[in-house]
Amino acid sequence: MLVFFVIIGVSFGVMASRLTGFVSDYLYEQRIREDSLSLERLATTVAPLFQSAASDALNETLQSSGAELGGRLMVLDRDGKVQFDSYARLMGVRLDIPEVLTVLGGDAPSAYGIHPLGENSVLSDSAAYASYCAARLTGTRGTLGILLYVSTVTEMMQSLSDVHRQMMMIAGAAGFAAILAAIIFSHILTKPIQSLTRTIQSMGKGDLSVRARVSGSGEIRNLAMAYNTMAEQLEQLDQSRNQFVSNASHELKTPMTTMKILLENVLYQPDMPQDLRQEFLQDMNHEIDRLTDIVSDLLTLTRMDAGNTKMQWETIDLPMLVQDTIHLLDPAAEQRRQSIVLSSPGSLSLTADGAKLSQVLYNLIENAMKYSPDGEKILIRLSQSGKDAVIAVEDHGVGIAPEDQVHVFERFYRVDKARSRETGGNGLGLSIVRQLVLLHHGEITLTSELGKGSTFTVRLPLHQEGEITA
Ligand SMILES: Nc1ncnc2c1ncn2[C@@H]1O[C@H](COP(=O)(O)OP(=O)(O)OP(=O)(O)O)[C@@H](O)[C@H]1O
Ligand SMILES: [Mg+2]
Repeated sequence: MLVFFVIIGVSFGVMASRLTGFVSDYLYEQRIREDSLSLERLATTVAPLFQSAASDALNETLQSSGAELGGRLMVLDRDGKVQFDSYARLMGVRLDIPEVLTVLGGDAPSAYGIHPLGENSVLSDSAAYASYCAARLTGTRGTLGILLYVSTVTEMMQSLSDVHRQMMMIAGAAGFAAILAAIIFSHILTKPIQSLTRTIQSMGKGDLSVRARVSGSGEIRNLAMAYNTMAEQLEQLDQSRNQFVSNASHELKTPMTTMKILLENVLYQPDMPQDLRQEFLQDMNHEIDRLTDIVSDLLTLTRMDAGNTKMQWETIDLPMLVQDTIHLLDPAAEQRRQSIVLSSPGSLSLTADGAKLSQVLYNLIENAMKYSPDGEKILIRLSQSGKDAVIAVEDHGVGIAPEDQVHVFERFYRVDKARSRETGGNGLGLSIVRQLVLLHHGEITLTSELGKGSTFTVRLPLHQEGEITA
């Protein structure tokens, strides 16, 4: 605001002084022109009277013209001595005034100048300056002398001071308007910033629900909108983190409770039949396995969240990797009379982290088996599409309803909790799969129809830009 005011103030000051200068120059020039012209005209009347020494007529002319012009008229001879004076004071006195000397010594018909008036001047008590205008008196034999006109310049000074005063008033009004504009402008400019600052401060104190007021236009509006988007994401992140922690605690608590009940039974029933005790101990063992699974899955996820996962890039023979993974699941498939069929082109290799890619396949095939009835066929199709390898895992199982499809990749999300628990699912498999696919710069999609089956499709780039393979 201050800078704004100073700039406007200084420019107005400069402008006012320049303008006053122009006006005074103009007034001065005009005065010179008017005075010189009328004096030169008068000189033509006075010259013959002076030459013919018609004193009375001359005196009379000087008196009347002086009164008419409002100043003092004098006639000087060629030596600069006063011969006639309309004030009748300086008769015989030699006037060494520059204007007189200029006209007497040169070709100029007249000369003009402004001089300060001495104290007790005959001309005026109040005026500080007088203008001197000298015009040549030319007779039949050349220069006769000088006609000198002396008058106060009060009027001109008055006009100048008027102009000056008006300029000052305009500059003052402009300065005031500038301050007012600066205050309003800075208020308009800083108000949304202040409001945004307050919003950020409340957010800094932990209230993630506050939003900036989006108003006006331009940069501030964009800033408020960008801030709100960021706040929205932070709030969502915070909510999903809370959800994750509460889900994780809940999932860990369930096997713990079961284990405690089993343990208390064994502990407080010393005469429990041996086979029942054995069964309880086996159940406890099963629950411990479950707990270990959850904890290791959670560890994998948090490690990936923190960006601490190192990728071991290598060239992978994809059909071979899939075969190896299928072998791991063979016993479970046999148990449920399910067949896992691989359809692949002759060879397809890509740059990937073998262990992690195997984990992706394992989870997807395991799901396909888990959520399909006994005796069903699971089909794994490998193909190449442009610069990508495509892996599709297809089953003819329970399928996933559209409203659940969007959630299955979320942590701890299970469509049918009871059924999942039965099959030992924690709801973490697919979220790990998605993270692993992202680490390979790939994507995973799902098409499914309730009661008909599902297909999970993974697309992975064949080559990882800038990665060194082992
Ligand atoms: N092939 C599929 N057919 C039908 N539903 C599926 C299929 N794959 C996943 N789902 C559904 O998506 C949910 C999430 O799958 P996800 O693999 O993340 O968890 P999970 O299999 O229950 O447990 P986990 O894999 O952690 O042992 C499952 O609980 C299931 O309801
Ligand atoms: Mg799973």
